[in-house]
Amino acid sequence: MTPAAASAAVRAGFRRVHGSDPEGVWAAPGRVNLIGEHTDYNDGFALPMALPQAAVLAARRREDGLLRLHSAQGDGRTTELRVAGLAPGGTPGWTRYPAGVVWALRERGLPVGGADLHLDSSVPTGAGLSSSAALECAVAVAYNDVYGLGLSRPELARVAQYAENAYAGVPCGVMDQMASVCCTGGHALHLDSRSLEVRQVPLDLTGHGLRLLVLDTRVKHDLADGAYAALRAGCERAAGLLGLPALRDLAGAELPATLVRLPADLVPLVRHVVTENARVERAVERLAAGEPEALGPLLTEGHASLRDDYRVSCPETDLAVEAAVAAGALGARMTGGGFGGSVIALVPAGDAASVARAVTDAFAAAGFAAPAVLEAVPSPGARRIG
Ligand code: GLA
Repeated sequence: MTPAAASAAVRAGFRRVHGSDPEGVWAAPGRVNLIGEHTDYNDGFALPMALPQAAVLAARRREDGLLRLHSAQGDGRTTELRVAGLAPGGTPGWTRYPAGVVWALRERGLPVGGADLHLDSSVPTGAGLSSSAALECAVAVAYNDVYGLGLSRPELARVAQYAENAYAGVPCGVMDQMASVCCTGGHALHLDSRSLEVRQVPLDLTGHGLRLLVLDTRVKHDLADGAYAALRAGCERAAGLLGLPALRDLAGAELPATLVRLPADLVPLVRHVVTENARVERAVERLAAGEPEALGPLLTEGHASLRDDYRVSCPETDLAVEAAVAAGALGARMTGGGFGGSVIALVPAGDAASVARAVTDAFAAAGFAAPAVLEAVPSPGARRIG
C-alpha cells in the first residue's frame, strides 16, 4: 500500500470511530537489525534498517484531558483514559504503549494533554520486528506535531524507550526506537547507542542483485519475561568488574587478556558483545566499499555468536539459518532480541523463492509451524504521511 492509500484508509477509520477528521496521519516503521545485536544496552553499535511495514496513526488533539484509543487490529472497542491518571502498570494490552508515550512526555515536564487516536499497523506482532517501538514512535511523532513540542528525533526515541522501560516494564535498549525514527529509505542506520549519533549507510540491495528475506518463525518472543533483563544485568556486572562504564569500552585486542579475569558465566556474554561490535564496523566498511554481498558471512558469524555465546537463539531460528544457507543464502541470522522471532537471510535475487521454500520445507519436516516470509526493503523512518 502506498503512503497516500494508507493515510486515506486510516483517516476513514478515524472518522468512523471518532466522528470527524483527524489533524493528520503519521507512520512509524518496524525494523530488522542487519548486525549489532544485544549491543545497544552496552552503549555499542548496531546497523538496523526500517521495514515497509509500519504503524499508521491518525490523531487529533483534545482539550479535555482524555486519551481515546482505537486500533484496527483491536477488539472494536475504544479505550478511554484520563491523561492525568496515567500510571505505570495501569494500562492493559496494546494501549500501554501509546499511554506510556503520553505519560513519558508528561514525566519530562512537557505540557501535553489528551488526543483521539486511531491506529492501523502492518508490523507483525511478536515477530521480533519492533511492532511496539513502531507504535510508540508513531504516537511520539504525532504528539510532537499536534502539541508543537519541537523534540529532536533522538529525543523522541528516548521518550519512546522510556515509555517501554518505565511504563510497559520492558528493559529494552534504544535501537528499535532509534531505527523507527531515524532510518531513511535506501539506507541502513549506523547507530552509536552511547552518543545517539547516526550515520546513513547506503544499502542498494536491488542494484547488486540481492534480496533480504525475513523469515518469521512464529515463535512469539517476549522481552518482558526476564531472560533479556538477566542478560542485560550480566553485561552490566561484567563492565562493573572490569571497571568500565560499559562493555562498549572494551576493545577487541584486549579481549583475550580480559576474559581470563572474569567469572566463567560472564565470559561468553562479553565475547559476544565485543565481537558483535566489531562485526558492525566490518559490515559498515563492506557497505562503504560497495560490497553488500560481503554482509553474508558476517550475518552467519553473528548468528553463531548469538547461538553459542549469548544463547538467545532457539531450534526454529537455528533451523531457519541452516536451511537458508544450505539453499544458497549468502548468510543468515536471527534478528532482534531472540528467543524466537525472525531470521533475516541475504540471498541472490534469483534464489529468493527457492531459499524461502527450503526453509518452509525444513520447518515442515521438523514439525514446526510454517514460517511467514516477508521481504525487507530499506524504508523511511517515522514521518507525517497525511
Ligand atoms: C530488542 C530490544 C533492543 C535490542 C535488541 C537486541 O529488540 O528492544 O533494544 O536490545 O533486542 O539487539
